[in-house]
Formats: sequence, structure tokens, C-alpha cells
Amino acid sequence: MSDEKKPTPQPSVTPSPSVKAPASPAQPAKPAIAKTSAISRRAFVVGALGASTLLAVAAFAPPSLPSWNILNPLPPTKEGPTLVTSWNTLDTKYKNAVSAGNLYSPSDYSEFFYFPYPVTASPYYKNVITRLPDPLVNPLVSSSDPNYSILSKVAAWNLTCVHLRCIVNPGYAGNPGSGEFRLQCPCHGSQYRLTDAVPVAGPAFDLGLLPLPRVKLSYDSATGNITATDLDGTAGVGRTD
Ligand code: FES
Repeated sequence: MSDEKKPTPQPSVTPSPSVKAPASPAQPAKPAIAKTSAISRRAFVVGALGASTLLAVAAFAPPSLPSWNILNPLPPTKEGPTLVTSWNTLDTKYKNAVSAGNLYSPSDYSEFFYFPYPVTASPYYKNVITRLPDPLVNPLVSSSDPNYSILSKVAAWNLTCVHLRCIVNPGYAGNPGSGEFRLQCPCHGSQYRLTDAVPVAGPAFDLGLLPLPRVKLSYDSATGNITATDLDGTAGVGRTD
């Protein structure tokens, strides 16, 4: 007898003719995922995170970084009285606008300035000074002021809208024929009377909000210079007088 092991015969498995192996259905070709879109999403997320980090840092940046100061939550350091312009400058611009028939473009005869904060401060502290169109006068200037004849013809307001703090357009929303001139906010249409900055239309009026803060002025008759000396009210809140 041979020791050689014989291989164990394996039963042959033949598929039953009645049981068919399921034919694998043709898989629809999966659309190739555009790699560029995944990269775009990632880039977007990374960019958004980076931007929010920058904003968070900028919000607490020291005032020594003027270009970031727009996000500073605290008012910057106040400056003292500021020379704004001269009566002659305002009056000449006004008269040129009148002769050009352009009374509704106050940029022809207005000045925009920052007071009482430096020009590097947030635009929320930006103010406008204008020579009022004749025969309008500023009702907030006392008739007993020795320079009434000049200062009553000048108005200076903070430009931060008391509704939701957009910057009021220093261009007028004039009402031709009515003799009334207004400052208008570009965001929701609040309008402020030019002579006293009281809201007369739009949400600032509907909600009974306060007039724009007033820049108090002094006039030097020797030089003709007009200086901003104080701010009556709070930017974005208004004044109470
Ligand atoms: S922010 Fe000026 S009208 Fe709304």
C-alpha cells in the first residue's frame, strides 16, 4: 500500500438552473465630483474664518492703528477745539452755487470735517458744516450772540443717523418750492431738517427719535475763522435740546 494520500474528492457544485445569480445591475456612472468645488468650499471656510479673526482683532485694535479704528467699539480720544473753515469760504461757495442755480448740491458750499475726534477716527464722528441758504437761519443760535449775523447762517451736524447709524448724506433732499432743505439718510430714507437737524420724515421721524447732534461753533471776527468748540449730543443717539 502506498502512503501517498489521495485527494479527497470534492463534490462538484453546479449552480441550479432555477437559481440564477442576480445579475448585478448596471450602476449608473457616478458623476465625478468636481474637485474644484470642494476646494472652493474649503477656501471659503478658511477665508471666512480668517476674516472673522481679523475683524475680532480689529475690533480691539488700539487707537494707534488708525486704519482699523473704524471697528473700535470705544470712541477715540477727543481733540480740542478745531478750526473748521472760514465764513468767507462757506459764503463764497454758497454764492457760487446760487449763481449756478445749484442750491440742491450743498457739496458745492459745504465742508465736511471730524470733530471732536481726529480725522482718522470712525466716520461715525464725521460732521458737516454748511452755510444755510437764504433766508434760513439756525434757530439754535442765540440772538444775543455777538456774532449772530454770521453764526445764524451756519449749521453743523454730526452725520450719524439716529435710526440705525448709517452716515447721513450731506447732500440735501431739497423740497423745491417749499424753501425747506433736508439732510437725507441713504439707508432707510430718514430726513432731517437742515436748519435744526430735527427728523421730519422716514423712520427717525416715525419712531420719534432725537435730532442729530449739533456741533457748537465760534466765530473770530478778526480772522473770519469758524471753530468747532463742542458737540451737543452723542453720535448715533442724538441731542436732547
Ligand atoms: S439708518 Fe438712517 S434711516 Fe435707517
